[in-house]
Amino acid sequence: MKTLLKKLYNTNSLDRDEMLYLLDHMDEDTQELLYFYADAAKVENYGKAVYLRGLIEFSNYCKNTCMYCGIRGENAAIRRYRLTNAQIMECCAVGDRLGLKTFVLQSGEDDFYTDDILVDIIRQIKECFPYCAVTLSIGERSYMSYKRFFEAGADRFLLRHETASGELYKKLHPGMSFENRQRCLSDLKEIGYQVGAGFIVGLPGQDNKTLVEDLLYLKGLQPHMVGIGPLVIHPQTPLRKYKGGGLEKTLICLALTRLLLPEVLLPSTTALSVTDEEGMQKALKAGANVIMPNITHDFAREMYELYKGKSGMTVDIEKIAEEVEKAGCHIDMSRGDHRSWKRKACVI
Ligand code: 5AD
Repeated sequence: MKTLLKKLYNTNSLDRDEMLYLLDHMDEDTQELLYFYADAAKVENYGKAVYLRGLIEFSNYCKNTCMYCGIRGENAAIRRYRLTNAQIMECCAVGDRLGLKTFVLQSGEDDFYTDDILVDIIRQIKECFPYCAVTLSIGERSYMSYKRFFEAGADRFLLRHETASGELYKKLHPGMSFENRQRCLSDLKEIGYQVGAGFIVGLPGQDNKTLVEDLLYLKGLQPHMVGIGPLVIHPQTPLRKYKGGGLEKTLICLALTRLLLPEVLLPSTTALSVTDEEGMQKALKAGANVIMPNITHDFAREMYELYKGKSGMTVDIEKIAEEVEKAGCHIDMSRGDHRSWKRKACVI
């Protein structure tokens, strides 16, 4: 095990069998060494800096019906909301006052927001806050739409691949296509975004073999950001009777991702903090270096429950800073772009 970890740290790669062996034989000592190497890889690339992103959940309408997700189109028990462009700008202003330099615009897949509406809001944000990065997390759209958003000034795009197992993907995402998801990710990269992929840990039917596929898929895609979090059960979804994903397995996946993609920007996800009170600190010690405080309007926040307990997360930067320091890190208020990304010249 030690030899494998050393090889992973030195070469940033392992083959399928080696990776599976690692996951199948993970014990406490190995985990400790894994986190040690992951932390070293992070420090070599970003030091002890932790970057902040202001998350704005601007609509919880969604045309999809992902089996695990609380805002799935078929959930009739939640109240739906949409923020106007003016309300989104207010959220950005709150974030700006806090010193945040990335705004993540996240929503369900909501066609109410046409390309024109989104281009408009991206332009407005860039005009008001030219020193800030705009990240979109709005799901699948066409190549041309993605290109228009990029040209309007969007810098980054988050679209988790959710699972790299075609079979599992099909079961959990009725009516959606695994191929189209991966097409979106490669389009986004080609256009020039900093791209974030990622997966959920603890999905029913997932095993170490599927996790290896997730990790190798990421290695092949070379995303700039990776979001990994445990499954958190939402009572109004078809997965209500299942068990959520584990903290430990998530930390292991985070650390392995850091070693496979040493320059990656890796958030300690909200789902992890919901699962374990010290989740954030633990993730920061296992290779994570990004935190995404929620700056959505209060009235909307409770309605954006992808899973139970999500809306209670804090936006108290002081408190976040305390946690970050407990993990031996410090908050860095710069934009926190990926080390080797430069925006392609384009019309803004
Ligand atoms: N548990 C954990 N993660 C979830 N997501 C959606 N629902 C859940 C859940 N119940 C994740 C998906 C999506 C991201 C925005 O939230 O991976 O891409």
